[in-house]
Amino acid sequence: MAPSSKPLAVITGASTGIGYELAKCCAEDGFDLVIVADEPEIRKAAADIQAVGANVDALQADLATLEGVDKLYATIGGRAVDALLANAGRGLGKGFLDQDFDDVLRVVNTNITGTIYLIQKVGRDMRARKRGRILITGSIAGFVPGTYQAVYNASKAFLDSFSFALRAELKESGVTVTCLMPGATETEFFARADMLDTAVGQGKKDDAADVARIGFKAMKNGEGDVVSGWHNKLQSAIANITPASILAEQHRKKAAPGSAKH
Ligand SMILES: NC(=O)c1ccc[n+]([C@@H]2O[C@H](COP(=O)([O-])OP(=O)(O)OC[C@H]3O[C@@H](n4cnc5c(N)ncnc54)[C@H](OP(=O)(O)O)[C@@H]3O)[C@@H](O)[C@H]2O)c1
Repeated sequence: MAPSSKPLAVITGASTGIGYELAKCCAEDGFDLVIVADEPEIRKAAADIQAVGANVDALQADLATLEGVDKLYATIGGRAVDALLANAGRGLGKGFLDQDFDDVLRVVNTNITGTIYLIQKVGRDMRARKRGRILITGSIAGFVPGTYQAVYNASKAFLDSFSFALRAELKESGVTVTCLMPGATETEFFARADMLDTAVGQGKKDDAADVARIGFKAMKNGEGDVVSGWHNKLQSAIANITPASILAEQHRKKAAPGSAKH
């Protein structure tokens, strides 16, 4: 990328869905971008976003691996990162005992290991410069035991919790941490998680561009967390006062294989 005076944003999982829309928000707000995903589709996303007038570096890397995260860090190449939007993630439907353990590991390593490894690397540089914004895409799923999506919901509970803790650790450092917690959103997520035969997979969902705009604004304002959409706010408020066993039973109805109404 040619030298630029614009601030730099790094967005993971930017080929589709919420990450793609977050990248567009950054471009429209005057950032140059480094965008990452695991598949070649990321190059098409880069071409689309370049049309908004941003310089865009696109990287294909598997962020479920430490090597993939190192490759991303090398691509940043010592440039100051003004905003890190750690958004890459994947779901996984079906009963835990029926899942392939390689798929389980991929969820854990993408959503948790790769995400926090990247945040540690970029966060250290931000702390040294006393400046930076971190946005983590958590989920309201983190408030609810995810029957038939058990590992995914647990991974988001990890991120929601991690985000608040890191934010508190970085208080007064000049670096803010914001957790975006969407509800069900119209993206490729449910198809990739093999959940299109479920009630949640077939149900009404939020628009990814709306969700991204809400998250981006909260990050820019340095807010701690934002649940996108009033219905999700209500759902998470109720989840906070409902016993976990009841939440787990309710989740079964939404996520059990074959739960979609035909
Ligand atoms: N959709 C929802 O209902 C919902 C609700 C709450 C939270 N979220 C969260 O929102 C985030 C974005 O998901 P989405 O809904 O926008 O789904 P999506 O359309 O499937 O997008 C996921 C993005 O993450 C990338 N990604 C996945 N694994 C990766 C890996 N190992 N290395 C690099 N990139 C990887 C994907 O790229 P590749 O295809 O190249 O792998 C894609 O760009 C996720 O963290 C998800 O948990 C989604």
